[in-house]
Amino acid sequence: MSVTEMFDRAATPKRADSITIRRPDDFHVHLRDGAMLQAVLPFTAAQFARGVIMPNLVPPVTTVAAASAYRERIFAARPEGSDFQPLMTCYLTDATTPDEIEKGFKDGVWVAAKLYPAGATTNAHYGVTDIPNLAPVFERMEKIGMPVLIHGESTDPAVDIFDREAVFMEQSLLPLLRRHAGLKVVVEHVTTAETADIVRAHATRAAGTITPHHLVINRTSLFQGGLRPHLYCLPVAKREHHRLALRKAATSGETCFFIGTDTAPHRRTAKEAECCSAGVFGGATALQTYVQVFDEENALDRFEAFASVNGARFYGLELNRGTIVLERREAPILAAVAVDDTEVVVFRGGETLPWSVGKVSP
Ligand code: DOR
Ligand code: ZN
Repeated sequence: MSVTEMFDRAATPKRADSITIRRPDDFHVHLRDGAMLQAVLPFTAAQFARGVIMPNLVPPVTTVAAASAYRERIFAARPEGSDFQPLMTCYLTDATTPDEIEKGFKDGVWVAAKLYPAGATTNAHYGVTDIPNLAPVFERMEKIGMPVLIHGESTDPAVDIFDREAVFMEQSLLPLLRRHAGLKVVVEHVTTAETADIVRAHATRAAGTITPHHLVINRTSLFQGGLRPHLYCLPVAKREHHRLALRKAATSGETCFFIGTDTAPHRRTAKEAECCSAGVFGGATALQTYVQVFDEENALDRFEAFASVNGARFYGLELNRGTIVLERREAPILAAVAVDDTEVVVFRGGETLPWSVGKVSP
C-alpha cells in the first residue's frame, strides 16, 4: 500500500454499507380511496410502520364516522401480512365543532386535524376561509393536546406562487401561534429556509415535516429540458438555497423536523393534462431518497432520529419496536404503478438509485 493510499484510508472514514434503524413512520400521506388506495398502499406499507393519513378525499373526511369508515377501508386494502397502522386526521372546515374534534381524539379515531386554507391545493375547496374564526376549535385542541397540521400557503391569487408559503407564515401562521400559545402545530412540507427558522423558533410546540422531493429538486428542476408535470406539487419547489436549507434542517439532528413524504398520487392522465394536478408520488422511493440525502450530507448517524423518533415523540406515540435495514445497493426503480386503465408515475421512477430498502423486522 502506498503512503498516499494509507493517508486516504486514514482520512476517509469507511462508508457504511448498510444501516439498521427503528422502523420509521410517515407523518404525511395521501392514500386516496378505491382503486388508487389499493394500488399505492403497498408501497407506503413496505417502508413505514405507521402513516398519518390526509383527509382530502372527495368529499373530505370531516366526521368521526367518516374517519372510522376510511380507516376500515385502509385496513381492508393492506397487503397480506402487513401490520401498517393508519393514523387518521380530521379535515377542518368552517363548520367543524370543538365537540366533534374532541370526540374523535378521545375515541382514538384521529390523532390530529388538518388545516387547508380554502382552495390552497387539491380538494381543499371545503377548507377554512377564516382561520381566526375557528378559535373555539383551536382552544379545544390546545386543551386536549391535539396537533393541528397546516398546509401553509396563502390563497390570495394576487400573491406570486413562489411567495405563498412566506406570506402565509407572516399573515396567518405567526398570528395563530401568538393567539394560541399552547397549540401543537405541524407545519407540513416546509419548503423555505425562513419557514424552517420559524419552526425552530417555536420548537417547544411546533414541528415541521420535510418531503423527499423537496430535498432533491428545486424550482429549476420543474423546467429541466421542458415542463415536468410529475414534479409539480404544492407548495411548489423553491430556489436552490431553500433546498440546501431543507437538507440542513432534515440532517441537523434537531428534534423539530421529521418525515412527512406528502406522497400524493395522481393518474398520469391528470398530470399530463391541460391543467396538471398538484402532487408527487414519492411513496415508492421515499426511504431510498431520504437515506441518500443523509449519506450525501455525512449524517447517516442522524437518520434514525429524523425517520423514526422525532415525529413519534412530537405526537406522543410509542416508538416502533421493529427495525428496517437500508442498504447501499444499487437498484432500478419501477417507472409507474398501474391503476385502472392508466398509471401513476413514480418519483425517480426508471432511475437506478444507490440505496435500497432491505429486511423489515416487525
Ligand atoms: O401537491 C400536493 N398534492 N399538495 C397538497 O397539498 C395536496 C396534494 C394532493 O392531495 O394531491
Ligand atoms: Zn399533502
